[in-house]
Amino acid sequence: MSVLDMRDVRKVYRSGDADIIALDHATLQVDHGEIVALLGPSGSGKTTLLSIAGGLLTPTEGTVVVDGHDISAYNAKQLTEFRRENVGFVFQSVNLVPFLNAEENLLVVDELGGGKGGKTAKGRARQLLEELGLGSRMRNLPAQLSGGERQRVAIGRALFNNPKLVLFDEPTSALDTKIGAQVMELIRTEMKSRDTAAVIVTHDSRMTDYADRTVRIVDGRLTTNSAEATATH
Ligand SMILES: Nc1ncnc2c1ncn2[C@@H]1O[C@H](COP(=O)(O)OP(=O)(O)OP(=O)(O)O)[C@@H](O)[C@H]1O
Ligand SMILES: [Mg+2]
Repeated sequence: MSVLDMRDVRKVYRSGDADIIALDHATLQVDHGEIVALLGPSGSGKTTLLSIAGGLLTPTEGTVVVDGHDISAYNAKQLTEFRRENVGFVFQSVNLVPFLNAEENLLVVDELGGGKGGKTAKGRARQLLEELGLGSRMRNLPAQLSGGERQRVAIGRALFNNPKLVLFDEPTSALDTKIGAQVMELIRTEMKSRDTAAVIVTHDSRMTDYADRTVRIVDGRLTTNSAEATATH
């Protein structure tokens, strides 16, 4: 069973008098532990697809099943709970809480879920940060971290609840090439060691080297490049 199964998804934004078809007949399956790069030009529908896959937006038409949950049928409350428990998000602009240090930024996830974790949650946050090479930075506020370090905290936060699926929206576009490559390497290592699937949106074709498969999107329509689909890592 796929961890993400989107079928015939269509998303129409109503903007004044005009309808914008941001996604059209988008069908995408992602297996457990698979890393898919989603590549396409600006305005092609990448963020829209990611938002629908993670239950931040609902599709106009089509079905979205994530780890067995048919979220296309969920209401807003169900979606909030679903997101908290089942998916991790990492965005281009990192969105860390500015007045909380690195460790506390991870613990926010636990608090949103009712703070059940207690001491275990602290231990998990520390272990994750160590793993991400931030062992000596746990007490730093976001402003006291480099761009790459902030992005690593965001990755830790996305992994905190052990989701089966993590969605990345241009995770390296604010970083220089070298740090961007390091972050992609880290993403790949972390996903593979946990058997966590990822969809990574990018418009940088070099980033596709870190994926198992690349899916292209143009004008809201997906196309798969079969040569890349068979490439192995
Ligand atoms: N809330 C909205 N209301 C109306 N139109 C929208 C909305 N969000 C996105 N769009 C439009 O839908 C299309 C797809 O947008 P989307 O943000 O998914 O593109 P993208 O591929 O992520 O682009 P970028 O690479 O610039 O981030 C664009 O034409 C955009 O203008
Ligand atoms: Mg976008």
